[in-house]
Amino acid sequence: MRPTLIAIGALLCLACRSVPDRPEPDAAAVHPPEPAASNPHEALDHLDQRRPVPLLPMMAQHQKQSMREHLEAVQAVVAAAAVGDFEQVAAASRRMGFSESTGRMCEHMGAAAPGFTERALGFHHAADEIAIAADRRDGPAVLTALSSTLSACTSCHAEYKQQPVAALPEAG
Ligand code: HEC
Repeated sequence: MRPTLIAIGALLCLACRSVPDRPEPDAAAVHPPEPAASNPHEALDHLDQRRPVPLLPMMAQHQKQSMREHLEAVQAVVAAAAVGDFEQVAAASRRMGFSESTGRMCEHMGAAAPGFTERALGFHHAADEIAIAADRRDGPAVLTALSSTLSACTSCHAEYKQQPVAALPEAG
């Protein structure tokens, strides 16, 4: 009995397979290719309408590395604030704070992107306010300054994108 059933099953299967495949709908007709899709970097650049910050690859890499460090510093600020450790809040926020060398770096990064350096400096000064509030052991002021600092992060991200370039445009 069982072998017969298996044989019938196998025959049915073969019968199915012998039916000619229905033609597949033309993939290109269903999903017409995007006009700029030939180069995915160009396609993304076209989709991302933020203002470009032209940077040499080494500068772009350095900037992204600083950004990841900023995010770690914010995380450390929040962790310390959560347990009321004002010394650690101040120390972590100073990792994002203003210094002469930071200021020079921001000038350098923003040299070819009008408005970028000002935003960057505003961000570092906002982070300084977190440390000032922590030194006063003022918890609500720490959170207010943290919020302003995060606004500086998000508003800059909303406006600017990196644009790696082989050579920077002439200053002036
Ligand atoms: C003055 C402008 C500016 C400020 C302020 C700023 N960023 Fe950025 N950030 C950028 C730009 C430009 C990029 C690159 C974005 C792109 O090209 O998509 C970036 C990228 C990043 C990235 C992605 C890094 C990677 O590896 O790709 C992280 C994370 C980040 N920023 C975190 C932060 C945090 C956290 C803050 C604030 C504490 C902050 N940024 C403040 C401009 C800024």
